[in-house]
Amino acid sequence: MTSASSFTPDSWEARDLQSMLHGFSDLGTLHDHGPVVIARGEGIYVEDSHGNRYIEGNSGLWNVVAGFDHPRLVNAAVEQIRKLPAYHAFFGRVTEPAVALAEKMLEIAPVPMGKAFFTNSGSEANDSVIKMLWMINRGLGRPNCRKILSRRNAYHGVTGLTASLTGKDYNNAFGLPLEGFLFADCPHYWRFGQDSESETEFSNRCAQNLEAQIVAEGPDTIAGFFAEPVMGAGGVIPPSEKYFDAIQPVLKKYGIPLIADEVICGFGRTGNLWGCQTYNIEPDIIVASKCMTAGYFPMGAVLVSDEINDKLVAAAAEFGEFPHGFTTGGHPVGCAIALEAIDIILNDGVFDNVVAVAPRFQERLHQFASHPHIGEARGVGLMGALELVANKEDKSPFPPEQPVAEQIANVALEHGLICRPIGQAIVLAPPFIISNRQIDELFDKLQRTLDQVLPAS
Ligand SMILES: Cc1ncc(COP(=O)(O)O)c(C=O)c1O
Repeated sequence: MTSASSFTPDSWEARDLQSMLHGFSDLGTLHDHGPVVIARGEGIYVEDSHGNRYIEGNSGLWNVVAGFDHPRLVNAAVEQIRKLPAYHAFFGRVTEPAVALAEKMLEIAPVPMGKAFFTNSGSEANDSVIKMLWMINRGLGRPNCRKILSRRNAYHGVTGLTASLTGKDYNNAFGLPLEGFLFADCPHYWRFGQDSESETEFSNRCAQNLEAQIVAEGPDTIAGFFAEPVMGAGGVIPPSEKYFDAIQPVLKKYGIPLIADEVICGFGRTGNLWGCQTYNIEPDIIVASKCMTAGYFPMGAVLVSDEINDKLVAAAAEFGEFPHGFTTGGHPVGCAIALEAIDIILNDGVFDNVVAVAPRFQERLHQFASHPHIGEARGVGLMGALELVANKEDKSPFPPEQPVAEQIANVALEHGLICRPIGQAIVLAPPFIISNRQIDELFDKLQRTLDQVLPAS
């Protein structure tokens, strides 16, 4: 491993350390070891500025699913930049690609949806939903119906509101969550199931606890329930068996809208186009982002049902407008790229490839379950995680002074693999275009890494 002192002053690494503040990075270690500066990409591989090549085992941040050099995405961007490089969607203005993308999103949505609203990111999309829910309830004469339910270990973004939705302790750093943001159970059976209960019994318990929480808070004070179909940044946690079947009737009973945060799952990651299809989720609102442009442009979207849209329009009447929007929301270049990305995923074999190779990915992932320090191998489609444990019997984690997941991610780099540590899990979510041979290459690299960091005997 390199150290900061080994960088020449004019290197990208030294210049980065002098100039840039990194989010979600261990600032101390970063200063000691320097960043990995990615210079180019080809297919599922990226190359750093020293020419070292890596499999991008996380598709960047779950999003670069069609590879790092897709000519059609590049052409779509160039053509739109030539035609109309920028415009907005305020004051009743709009661009042709934005209209076409709104139509396309409604066409491919997993359940009937009424309108699409565009943002620049997943955080902005979830943030917009919260404001929509607050405005709707105010319009309906229920100004106290503002509480938002999320789940422990969920990740929904980093703005003030969406960090409040994100059930992670690090948000205490900002004095968050804000008041009125509540957390239900995390549906992780391996970690939270009791010895005596089956997986479906555990899901039923989550639903019963949810109902008790709703009743205790007052059902008419809860504006919405947010859920990722699979918790992604929580460490790839697919819901326990029949979890969504158990909780949806509870939400329906109390008239609480369900918001499916499809930022990671949307566009194929779980082996269906939407996570909602994998888990029979019938949301009132859908949030999408990441794969929408295959990572080539910052974009997010909110899809709302006709019923939600009607309520929003009614609530907006008092103000003469829907007083919300982003300067670059619905950017024509982003929309043109998104239209192309969706077409590539749906009609050019990319989604079909996910379906074809996911079994091999899951098979190789689950082979690690026999390792004495892998407590759980879990995943669905082209996403997976290996949960590291110090002791397999009692599932106890490694002590904080032994950050094995980070060590594995660091050593994996030496073997030419980018994978991500989340807590004590190693997370993988490769591009949708990965082949079976490349899946073997990825897991062979991970095996060599594990043999080095945590030898099996
Ligand atoms: C499920 C989910 N929602 C929202 C977000 C936030 O998206 P962004 O980082 O684009 O703001 C993320 C980011 O990883 C996510 O995984």
